[in-house]
Amino acid sequence: MATESYVLKVTEVIEETADARSVVFEVPSELQATFAYTPGQFLTVAVPSDRTGLAARCYSLSSSPHSGRHQITVKRTADGYASNWICDNLKAGDTLRVLPPSGIFTPKDIDADLLLFGGGSGITPVISIARTALEKGTGKVVLFYANRDENSVIFAAELAELGTEYADRFTVVHWLESVQGLPSQAQLSNFATYFDGYTSFVCGPAPFMKAVTTALKDLGIPRERRHQEKFVSLGGNPFGDVEEVLAAQQTLAEADDADEPGDAPEPAFAGPVAIEVELDGQQYTFDDWQGDKVLLEFLEEKGVDAPFSCREGNCSACACVVLEGDLSMKHNEVLDADDLGDGIRLTCQALPLSEKLRISYNG
Ligand code: FES
Repeated sequence: MATESYVLKVTEVIEETADARSVVFEVPSELQATFAYTPGQFLTVAVPSDRTGLAARCYSLSSSPHSGRHQITVKRTADGYASNWICDNLKAGDTLRVLPPSGIFTPKDIDADLLLFGGGSGITPVISIARTALEKGTGKVVLFYANRDENSVIFAAELAELGTEYADRFTVVHWLESVQGLPSQAQLSNFATYFDGYTSFVCGPAPFMKAVTTALKDLGIPRERRHQEKFVSLGGNPFGDVEEVLAAQQTLAEADDADEPGDAPEPAFAGPVAIEVELDGQQYTFDDWQGDKVLLEFLEEKGVDAPFSCREGNCSACACVVLEGDLSMKHNEVLDADDLGDGIRLTCQALPLSEKLRISYNG
């Protein structure tokens, strides 16, 4: 089953650094509600590929929601087919097929004090959160921003401007590998000790995220104040008919680097399951989930407007928290042991493990 996708026009491609481009989409007024987003969310974009027809990739929105802008920022990677295609080929006036915003890497309280960590292009969702918190919130915002060297710093000018405008609330610490080496866990931990009580958000390369997350965990920062963003390649095609997608956008021949998703055998509770669902302030109760289909599909059949994006266990857009009972997952590329321990499950992969369940999408 395909997610509903939309063809959007690119109005601008901005060269942020030699290796990074921001892409601005035009969202027509009739799609404004569908494309409403919170800071830290991402768009899934279909990039043409002659091997698989298209490559679906998630890119964080670097704009802030209240700006009315829909801007993603993409950094070239050595073997990244899709990011290279965007940096080399995309131009204003082109169109791309895009899924609506999703993701859970987003602050619940925009007035909270925030400790943000961005590594390289991991700044993308982080700057959206920072800008929104500064312009719409009241708390303090601290950003630790690590880059290879001075030339690879994306949004350097914007950050400097925000630093001037919000001098009493915003602090940026730039860390350059060319000068200081890679930040060690001990250095990150030392830095974080100054910001007790802050809520943290981390996005960047895997080793950077691991070092920051371990440092924060070791400092005893509770799970509800530690958030990290993870992206993996989408193995399948959440866009539906490949021909239809390609007809809407230009085609270019290149190889694709998508991975094949793995699968795990799953025992499921067979028989009617009673489930209570909390979503957007609404309560739903059902007593006839047979465990023969994943929870997301069951809810959709019941007319519940449950969130999702990839449907592959790769993005966490469909995540819920289990409050009673338990769910197994057919496939999971995105939740770690901490997430699982906190009862977070991907509804697009979830089958029942108990006769009674209570879940919440509100975290
Ligand atoms: Fe992407 Fe479920 S929709 S993980």
